[in-house]
Amino acid sequence: MNKYTILFITVTIAIVACKHNPGNNINPAGNTNNPNNNNPSTGSDTGICFERDILPIFISNCAQSGCHDALSKQDGYQFTDYNSIVSKNFVPGNAGATELFEKINEDKADKIMPPPPAAPLTFDQKKLIERWINEGAKNTTNCGSSCDTNKFSFAANINPTIKKHCVACHTSALAPKGIVLDSYTGIVNGVDNGGLLNSIRHEQGYTPMPQGGNKLSDCEIRTFEKWVEAGKQNN
Ligand code: HEC
Repeated sequence: MNKYTILFITVTIAIVACKHNPGNNINPAGNTNNPNNNNPSTGSDTGICFERDILPIFISNCAQSGCHDALSKQDGYQFTDYNSIVSKNFVPGNAGATELFEKINEDKADKIMPPPPAAPLTFDQKKLIERWINEGAKNTTNCGSSCDTNKFSFAANINPTIKKHCVACHTSALAPKGIVLDSYTGIVNGVDNGGLLNSIRHEQGYTPMPQGGNKLSDCEIRTFEKWVEAGKQNN
């Protein structure tokens, strides 16, 4: 190969590479215009329901006693129901101007809410709260649920309910009454030794769970009972 051949090859490669660039750039740009991409976790379901999707996040991550329950109201913030959540430095339609949204997105340990050792909200939880605020922070209730008493697998039903309603308080870092619900073994242990079923049924002699929140629906409680009756499988 003489130097002209090498030059020719180099220029050709450069042109081909450049030609690829516009094509490569169009795709990501096009995708950001796709409304489905803004949906955090669920693909097709676009309706956010305050009572079903948003309130449990606040109850289990913010409204613990000593934090933002009705008694403690740290810094004047209470996050126990719709009215208290939207009452202070809250701008419906504008998550960026809403203080609580800023706080859950802080990256410094001394600023972020909830503060360590509590775990930060997950990416999906933050996205859901952002969408809910930006869509006007509506007080939607009685939205129905996908619960079905014939569906009680650990991975698809039991664990998601625990993740939504329990795990923020029952991490290994916090472990109230020694109960840790962030794994299959921890949940089985909570059932066998911690009175988990009795506490979600609000039976006398047990602390009612989820603490500070609404009782789980009859259907959700039934799925726990059926999962236990069927042998607490890791399925
Ligand atoms: C807001 C925080 C919080 C949430 C959410 C929460 N717990 Fe608890 N849980 C606690 C605390 C605090 C205790 C200890 C209460 C006590 O000392 O009696 C506790 C105790 C328990 C106990 C022991 C009850 C007893 O009588 O000994 C069980 C079982 C339990 N939780 C299960 C759950 C389950 C299941 C969920 C979700 C459906 C849940 N918790 C949600 C904070 C929470």
